[in-house]
Amino acid sequence: MNSEQPTTAAQSAPSGQAWSGRFHEPVDERVKRYTASVFFDHRLALFDIEGSVAHARMLAGVGVIGANDLADIERGMTQIRGEIERGEFQWSLDLEDVHLNIERRLTNLVGDAGKRLHTGRSRNDQVATDVRLWLRDAIDRIGGHVRDLRRSLVDLAEQHADTVMPGFTHLQVAQPVTFGHHLMAYQEMLTRDGERLADCRKRVNRLPLGAAALAGTSYPIDRERVARDLGFDGVCGNSLDAVSDRDFAIEFTACAALVMTHLSRLSEELILWMSPRFGFIDIADRFCTGSSIMPQKKNPDVPELVRGKTGRVNGHLVALLTLMKGQPLAYNKDNQEDKEPLFDTVDTLVDTLVIYAEMMRGVTVKADRMRAAAAEGFATATDLADYLVKRGLPFREAHEAVALAVRTASDRGVDLADLTVAELRAFSPLVGDDVHSVLTLDGSIASRDHIGGTAPAQVRAAIARARAELG
Ligand code: ARG
Repeated sequence: MNSEQPTTAAQSAPSGQAWSGRFHEPVDERVKRYTASVFFDHRLALFDIEGSVAHARMLAGVGVIGANDLADIERGMTQIRGEIERGEFQWSLDLEDVHLNIERRLTNLVGDAGKRLHTGRSRNDQVATDVRLWLRDAIDRIGGHVRDLRRSLVDLAEQHADTVMPGFTHLQVAQPVTFGHHLMAYQEMLTRDGERLADCRKRVNRLPLGAAALAGTSYPIDRERVARDLGFDGVCGNSLDAVSDRDFAIEFTACAALVMTHLSRLSEELILWMSPRFGFIDIADRFCTGSSIMPQKKNPDVPELVRGKTGRVNGHLVALLTLMKGQPLAYNKDNQEDKEPLFDTVDTLVDTLVIYAEMMRGVTVKADRMRAAAAEGFATATDLADYLVKRGLPFREAHEAVALAVRTASDRGVDLADLTVAELRAFSPLVGDDVHSVLTLDGSIASRDHIGGTAPAQVRAAIARARAELG
């Protein structure tokens, strides 16, 4: 057909699509599948309905549609919500995305009122609204899961406020700490993660609707009313920005990547601690699997997968950043690609948090192995140096004297505490008869008695602070 020739819609427009009026031929089947998003964006359905109903109420409130139209739209949407919840809704690829599927069903159910719904809005501000509503709900659920995981860590830490283990730097025994203190370090990280998510929520919770396609709309809309209706803290202040930026999704994914990164670190430790070489802990069988060939194996699959899935979430963060970086204002179809990484980030994070809290409740601690490991690596050498400093030696000289003592003990295959007072005095005349009191693991730990320190009293105080905050 000559494209110069005027044609009527009846002659040539492919039926079905909401936008097909200006097209001369139907969309290629492969392109239809390539451009459709309904396979994944149907997850937004209930939020799409919520947003549409709020929009319709506002349109009726300012007199753009009639009260009868609103009643029809509300009735139709109630039915559609039921169909979706019961799994009866027929999703159609021809209708491209969640928005057009629901709008078409509404029109089939209630007629003209359904056709009036899209007045003063575009799928551009609609989808941005849906994603924000969906993500806000996810953030609220995730916040609860983070708190539950913190509770499980605090519970275990409380049981082990006095359990001595080696603290490591460079994975070499450094100084003794308590296992409770070690666990509370992760509790601290997760507290910040929760704060970050709550802060991110403020920027998610802004209403794009009203931006329409990009420039706003000529109808006398009341955006504040829609925002209130949908529980948003306010409206997006610029229509171009409202439909185009996905920084809120990127920010959330960055928060999620940090949660996963923290849990990946803990996972790495659980894996090490469970290996027979360390033998510090055991993880309940229900979180482990065996080997099909090696009968002796019990593998820490869950922590290993958390470590692996952290790569996946970090990948989603990079995908979203890359999705955004070259886009001119305003909306571009690229943004349709925001959903799968975002959905998968939420799914992965929720599963991880829930499983992790349960798994930590199934951790058993081999306190004797931890203590023995702490006793092996000259973990109280710093305590001896501090002892000499308190008796007047400059720290650098004390460090040197103790290093020589460690070398001697190491050559003999014994610990510092195994050297006699007289032998220790050979490295510094300041060594007194009480020197062994600072060389014990428990003495070392108890002496770190300030806020943030590993003394059991301080660990208990940290636990009490966390419990007060967790409620
Ligand atoms: N499915 C689309 C998305 O997820 C909805 C917005 C489409 N807008 C458009 N102008 N084609 O981004």
